[in-house]
Amino acid sequence: MPRHIAIIMDGNGRWAKKRFLPRVAGHQRGVECLRDTVKACAEMGVGYLTVFAFSSENWRRPPDEVSFLMQLFLKMLQREVSKLHENNIRLKVIGDLSRFDTELNRYISEAEALTSSNSGLTLTVAANYGGRWDILNATRAMLQSRPELVAEFSEEDIEPYLSMHYAPEPDLFIRTGGEKRISNFLLWQLAYTELFFTDTLWPAFDRAALQEAIQSYQSRERRFGRTSDQLQEEQNK
Ligand code: IPE
Ligand code: IPE
Ligand code: MG
Repeated sequence: MPRHIAIIMDGNGRWAKKRFLPRVAGHQRGVECLRDTVKACAEMGVGYLTVFAFSSENWRRPPDEVSFLMQLFLKMLQREVSKLHENNIRLKVIGDLSRFDTELNRYISEAEALTSSNSGLTLTVAANYGGRWDILNATRAMLQSRPELVAEFSEEDIEPYLSMHYAPEPDLFIRTGGEKRISNFLLWQLAYTELFFTDTLWPAFDRAALQEAIQSYQSRERRFGRTSDQLQEEQNK
């Protein structure tokens, strides 16, 4: 079982369009799929689920859609957090939160505080997140608190300042909606992640689809630069 699954939940707009519905109907339906996926991951004993909810590039969308997504995020926090808490789920939000209004920021910190000592699944929502921003931000924060590193620093020096420092790197990455790209999601953390792309649109992503992705992950050999023979030898020891 993967310890950490990261998902780009893509295809909401196309799902709605196919049904002659407004794009936002796809986002609404997408929240239900997220709820089911969280439940499934918690039941299967996945430790970390990280989902891309809003990218730093998504501000380029029509203002109506952007404000609908903000409202949806706020509603989700208001409605779902107590349920997450009851289910021992820890909620984290990563991204540049300075662009969100104070009300949303308040709900985010309250939700994180409430669920911070839960020991079940850690659900991370990436909102106004960008992988390049994360790396720059971490480097800046590192140099601010440890100015002596300016001449030379290592990967290990930066890592504690990255937004997902509390989690192992994703084992499995899933992108729904047919596109085969990373779209500035977790660039640093996906370095050795197994990638799974599916044409299934996010609002149609169900347990069977999740199972399919996990099965694909389980059939792969993770070599991390070594040879297949070396791995066999290790196993036989
Ligand atoms: C993903 O679905 C949700 C967000 C980016 C918020 P899209 O809205 O990108 O759906 P498509 O790709 O247009 O179908
Ligand atoms: C990526 O989806 C971001 C989220 C799912 C939140 P997009 O639909 O915005 O990605 P691009 O722009 O098509 O690559
Ligand atoms: Mg899209």
